[in-house]
Amino acid sequence: MTTPSTIRSLDALEILDSRGHPTLEVHVTLDGGASATAAVPSGASTGANEAVERRDRDPMRYGGLGVLGAVTDVRGQIADALRGQDAIDRAGIDRTLCALDGTPNKSRLGANAILGVSMAATRAAAAATGRPLYAHLGGDAASLLPMPCLNVLNGGRHADSSLDVQEFMLVPVGASTFSRAMRAAAETYAAIREILRARDLSTAVGDEGGFAPALDDNEAALALIVEAIERAGYRPGEDIAIAIDPAATSFAVDGGYDLSRSRTGRLDRIGLLALYDRWVGRWPIVSIEDGFAEDDWNGFVAQTAAQGDRIQIVGDDLLVTNTRFIGDAIARKACNAALIKLNQIGTVSETVAAVELCRSAGWATMVSHRSGETTDAFMADFTVAMGSGQMKAGSPCRGERLAKYNRLLAIEVELGSRARFENPFKKYA
Ligand code: PGA
Ligand code: ZN
Repeated sequence: MTTPSTIRSLDALEILDSRGHPTLEVHVTLDGGASATAAVPSGASTGANEAVERRDRDPMRYGGLGVLGAVTDVRGQIADALRGQDAIDRAGIDRTLCALDGTPNKSRLGANAILGVSMAATRAAAAATGRPLYAHLGGDAASLLPMPCLNVLNGGRHADSSLDVQEFMLVPVGASTFSRAMRAAAETYAAIREILRARDLSTAVGDEGGFAPALDDNEAALALIVEAIERAGYRPGEDIAIAIDPAATSFAVDGGYDLSRSRTGRLDRIGLLALYDRWVGRWPIVSIEDGFAEDDWNGFVAQTAAQGDRIQIVGDDLLVTNTRFIGDAIARKACNAALIKLNQIGTVSETVAAVELCRSAGWATMVSHRSGETTDAFMADFTVAMGSGQMKAGSPCRGERLAKYNRLLAIEVELGSRARFENPFKKYA
């Protein structure tokens, strides 16, 4: 039996992401005439256990990064499997996709092909029901706008800066609404630019739109941010706090950590933990993500025991949005929050399951973009739908980053007096 939400056709094409690398755009059309498009992001500091992004490996095209094989399979075997299925049955569609792939890490069809279809089908179902995506996914209760975490200084694998730490984020904890939070962050971002100019430092930006200046070390970056917060007329800590993502896997070497890019030098696990302790004592840091390498579970456990009541400890590469790893981390008390990236696991349903598992353990979740992005803002609606309360999408610069924040500004207006906004870090104050 066909209904207006029955899938009629699928299509895909190879487009380019914000790094100029190929990615997938998927189109889904339903029998009732509704249709939707979704585009897939791509990481640079990817976790070893992420679902597999399928690339053509043809060195003659885009250095091997083409996705024409994935395009062919969306149009062919995936379309054949999904034609006639009800797009509103998201779990059923995602199950079909996983079964058709048949591997534990989505390596046959590719997590990029599978996620593109899963997102586009979800969006088409929302269109068929005439509801905005966040309301379709989250129901009438979906009204919490997230605390935005804006990555204003880029290091690590995201920039050729002198910073080992990959991301330094502004967290406008004192704001009373999402739009006020964005204003505080954008004004501080402008203040950082002014300070850099005055010091003859580069104002070129990294992959996520944050500045990538040649600073002496990671603490000089923290000092610069505090100075900019004050210059913009805000109080460090009270109005705007700081979150960092060291993405420590990227500077892990032989069981230790090499922060020589910023002259800190080599540290063992204990030394790195002590460094974070000093930073947390000295700077208004409320959240540290991937402070240790993805295979250094003991590092995460030690940090959560030592600092977990003072700051949020987020697992990204460690957990890869996978309920198996999140479950282990809950049992071992390895973090108290998870980063949530749709393309780390590869379907909308499995991402929802990851968020729900975190919630059941009293963990926080931060929904995240990837360093390679498109202007698709699915994750903004997803964040509101999940009531996640935190989202990171880079700095207030570069269209593919602003697409997410601007979508949330629009949702805030649409929700009107129903829109809620909370400081998820209040418990650490
Ligand atoms: P990625 O970085 O998208 O390059 O993996 C984002 C992050 O580490 O949080
Ligand atoms: Zn990360």
